[in-house]
Amino acid sequence: MLKLMKVLALALFAVAIALPIWMPGTVEGQGGTEALTTDMDAKTPNDLFNGFGALGTPVDECVADPEPPTARGNGTFEDNKFIFSEREAVDDGLGPTYNDTGCVECHQFVDVGGFAQQMEFRAGHITNGLFVDAPGGQLVHARGTDSDIVEHITTGETVKAFRISISTLGDGFVECLSNTVLQNNVAAQPSGQRGTLTSVPVVEANNTLRIGRFGLKSQHAILLSFAGDAYLNEMGITNKFDGTNGRSSSNPAAGTTENPCTTAEGVVNCTGAPFDPVPDPEDDGGDVLAFADFMAATRAPGRQNPIPAAAVRGDPLFNSVGCAVCHTRTFTTAAPGTSINGGAFSVPTALGNKIIHPFSDFALHDIGTGDGIVQNAGQSTANQMRTAPLWGIRARNRFLHQGLNITITDVIQLHAGQATTARNNFNFLTAAQRSDLVAFVLSL
Ligand code: HEC
Ligand code: HEC
Repeated sequence: MLKLMKVLALALFAVAIALPIWMPGTVEGQGGTEALTTDMDAKTPNDLFNGFGALGTPVDECVADPEPPTARGNGTFEDNKFIFSEREAVDDGLGPTYNDTGCVECHQFVDVGGFAQQMEFRAGHITNGLFVDAPGGQLVHARGTDSDIVEHITTGETVKAFRISISTLGDGFVECLSNTVLQNNVAAQPSGQRGTLTSVPVVEANNTLRIGRFGLKSQHAILLSFAGDAYLNEMGITNKFDGTNGRSSSNPAAGTTENPCTTAEGVVNCTGAPFDPVPDPEDDGGDVLAFADFMAATRAPGRQNPIPAAAVRGDPLFNSVGCAVCHTRTFTTAAPGTSINGGAFSVPTALGNKIIHPFSDFALHDIGTGDGIVQNAGQSTANQMRTAPLWGIRARNRFLHQGLNITITDVIQLHAGQATTARNNFNFLTAAQRSDLVAFVLSL
């Protein structure tokens, strides 16, 4: 009986690979040139800059302070990288509650802008079947500038999720993908596996909607909006691009008299204290422009070099078992000069018509790993996650959104829901093929 099932399963799998089911990796691939890549080695000098804007010279603070841009693209890469790497303090507006002191603390390896093992924590509860943020917001900060205001949640918050830091390298190319390219890609996916694209506001274009692609819920469409949000939500620094007009929340007490005690449980000593003395907005937008332009000017993560023989053998298996249905291999960015981001940005030459290999469709899927958190794409996305881009994955060793899985094999076994067929197909491979496929993933 067992033997018969195995034969049947193998036969089914043979059919699955023989069928020209769907050809991944051909999305608007004509006419572009390969994007510049970084070798993912921190020792290699000058291989992060992709040519967007001017390179500039490394900052020496004893000689001159870094200059932030005044509009997208008019600063220098070296200044922007320095600003991205700065640590902020209370008199810069840090906190009152926050997660870390600088972007680079959570986007650091193998080089500035990359991965980190830092985690953020989100929480909420279910009311009448709907996800509701924890009081004070679903993002529960890890740190505070005063021990009395460190956030604690109550037992009422039953939905709890950690998220590990991800890389921002190559994200300028992702920003320059047109909505249509992303829509066509998803439309070509088999209906049972089709991803959900989000439509999210572009802060600096009067909240015009654009297809989301950044963050674990594809909650942002452009780097400036993400950077403004991160400066506020990861570091507590209010700014012109933070989505609340430079206020840390819609609460009338937000800003200089903000009192986060109202969101905490077990806090005893917090009556009326001005925990954050710096007036809002704490940043005039210059730092946020520097963050966005630094990320936009980074090269895409490049492949392992040389590519090991096992990875070469595993390459076609990634398509034949169906991984590439969601982990889209190839996209081409919009042509230089195309107006994007609701008209607020024009695709620069360095980023236009570039072929990239992010191994993601930037869409949300339910593969059984969902964290239950709802951001800006509606309740139906509670248990969906964005297909994790696999470019650069060999540089990290903590996987899935919580960073709690250590081997690629375990990660594949956790693919269920819309990814069940791919997982089953993987399990029908021979042991040698499975190891080749893992070698391929770890060559990205
Ligand atoms: C405490 C750690 C932490 C700090 C500090 C931090 N980030 Fe992040 N960042 C994360 C995590 C975790 C994610 C993914 C979580 C999510 O999407 O909710 C992320 C995601 C991102 C992304 C999306 C990348 C992609 O390709 O989808 C961008 C862009 C980003 N961060 C920019 C910044 C900037 C700019 C700063 C500084 C203002 C910053 N981050 C500070 C932890 C951090
Ligand atoms: C139906 C869509 C879908 C298919 C098919 C699919 N994946 Fe995924 N994959 C995802 C999503 C969504 C995530 C993120 C899940 C999370 O973080 O909870 C993910 C995450 C991953 C990760 C973790 C990446 C990281 O940075 O933590 C790896 C590795 C991975 N997939 C490999 C594969 C392989 C190999 C296959 C084929 C056997 C495959 N996937 C098939 C949607 C898919």
